[in-house]
Amino acid sequence: MKYSQSDELINFTTKSKKVVKTAQLISITSGKGGVGKSNLLLNLAIAMSIRGKKVLIIDADMNLSNIDILIGIYPEYTLKNLLDNLITIDKLLIEGPKGIKILPASSGDLKVQQNIKRVQRALIQAYMELKKDFDYILIDTGAGISDYTVDFVVNSDKILIVTTPEPTAITDAYAMIKLLHYRMKSPDISVIINLAQTEDEGKKIFNKINLIVQHFLNKSLKFAGTVPIDPNMSEAVKEQTPIIIKRPRSIASTSIHNLALNILKEEEE
Ligand SMILES: Nc1ncnc2c1ncn2[C@@H]1O[C@H](COP(=O)(O)OP(=O)(O)OP(=O)(O)O)[C@@H](O)[C@H]1O
Ligand SMILES: [Mg+2]
Repeated sequence: MKYSQSDELINFTTKSKKVVKTAQLISITSGKGGVGKSNLLLNLAIAMSIRGKKVLIIDADMNLSNIDILIGIYPEYTLKNLLDNLITIDKLLIEGPKGIKILPASSGDLKVQQNIKRVQRALIQAYMELKKDFDYILIDTGAGISDYTVDFVVNSDKILIVTTPEPTAITDAYAMIKLLHYRMKSPDISVIINLAQTEDEGKKIFNKINLIVQHFLNKSLKFAGTVPIDPNMSEAVKEQTPIIIKRPRSIASTSIHNLALNILKEEEE
């Protein structure tokens, strides 16, 4: 964790200095909604796990969480049980494909919505307890920065921003990048261009965003990669089986494997 806006979190991180091994914290976010964050994160986690990494996904999108739905698992326990002090955090964890672990949120639960601060504390506590057991903890957030995901996002070792080639998504992604530079000292931001027609289009869009960021913010972005439009993605969502499992050689799966390689390569550098 790099820099905190929250005293609570500062206390947590100070305490954690004794821990030898600590998971890398990676958040995925976007300006505009529906650009593919949850699907990319889930498949990315599986791709990393296939390469021998221990990966946990924390679904921190309290409004429209759906990682559990994407793999067709209906958790026995939810954050609501945690709030009611009926269970401990380990009971919440579910096992996903290829050994990934998932801490699901509870979509649309009124009690969770009304106790967002407590939920946020519980998720941070979960992170603190679990980070010694994983190489990577990937956080799925909703679009935009909300009160309950901001601590995770601004404390991440790496932030993945997802945009599509559409001008609305690009504008919102830029607004998000600007906000992150305002909130953090030196954010490590990598951009994923999803739903591109071709790899080439993705690279051009990235270059365009990077030029704007260099010009107006005097900063540079990293390019995580392009994920082209792939009709297999929608099929995989309908069948509640991640595309990387269902269609491992499809264009989107190949691109997501490349994203994973790019991210893992950075760690080795
Ligand atoms: N590369 C792709 N090719 C085709 N369809 C895609 C691709 N990526 C995502 N999709 C489709 O886009 C839809 C939205 O994806 P997803 O739910 O992952 O977005 P999100 O950014 O997490 O949304 P939200 O902001 O609501 O959390 C899904 O139905 C998925 O099938
Ligand atoms: Mg989502």
